[in-house]
Amino acid sequence: MKKLALLIALVLFVLPFSALAEEAYNPIGDEYTVLVNHDYMLDKKYVPDDLVKVDVKFKDAKIELRKEAADALLQLFADAKEAGYNLIAASGYRSYSRQATIYYNKVKSMGKERAAKLSAPAGASEHQLGLAVDITCKANKQYLNANFAKTDEGKWVTEHCYDYGFILRYKQEWEDVTGYAYEPWHIRYVGMEHAANIKELDIPYEEYVELYLGTVTATEDDE
Ligand code: DAL
Ligand code: ZN
Repeated sequence: MKKLALLIALVLFVLPFSALAEEAYNPIGDEYTVLVNHDYMLDKKYVPDDLVKVDVKFKDAKIELRKEAADALLQLFADAKEAGYNLIAASGYRSYSRQATIYYNKVKSMGKERAAKLSAPAGASEHQLGLAVDITCKANKQYLNANFAKTDEGKWVTEHCYDYGFILRYKQEWEDVTGYAYEPWHIRYVGMEHAANIKELDIPYEEYVELYLGTVTATEDDE
């Protein structure tokens, strides 16, 4: 009987975490801090288990995010509206296969080198995490381009997304680190505490993760 209980506990609690740990790079270790980029990719089978539809204004189709990020985005959109800014969500969660299609089409239309700066190959997109969202607005004709940053809506998102646990992921000056061109429309949920730290430090998420690791190691060495 004891053995059976142990087996059930193993299947329910330990195995799902070890499977996810193998697939994702998450040295900070919070639920919302997985680092995803060209170097650290997600398994094709990874689908978040708490995706919900987000009831915000959308461009082509209602977007989905993980529950905590969805709640944060709802609040962000509501507060933006209150302040006089009308945001439009263009893309949230994207499956591995959807990302593969987007990337394939980009490569076909502009060649691999340019495409790789604008779109992530399947497995390398934060959209697969269900924690990233692309935002646009009427003033930018619902386009996702650098001009979004010049609109009042874009300026508001740039300044305030951190207050809701989101970070700007692809700033212009970070292209060499992130590998992607400037994307003022793409924000990523990491939770309130890390978002506040990252706003203050003003560094790419790749560097924040390294810094965090360094701090943890240094503290351990001191002990
Ligand atoms: N455009 C970003 C990098 C993505 O495809 O995830
Ligand atoms: Zn995006």
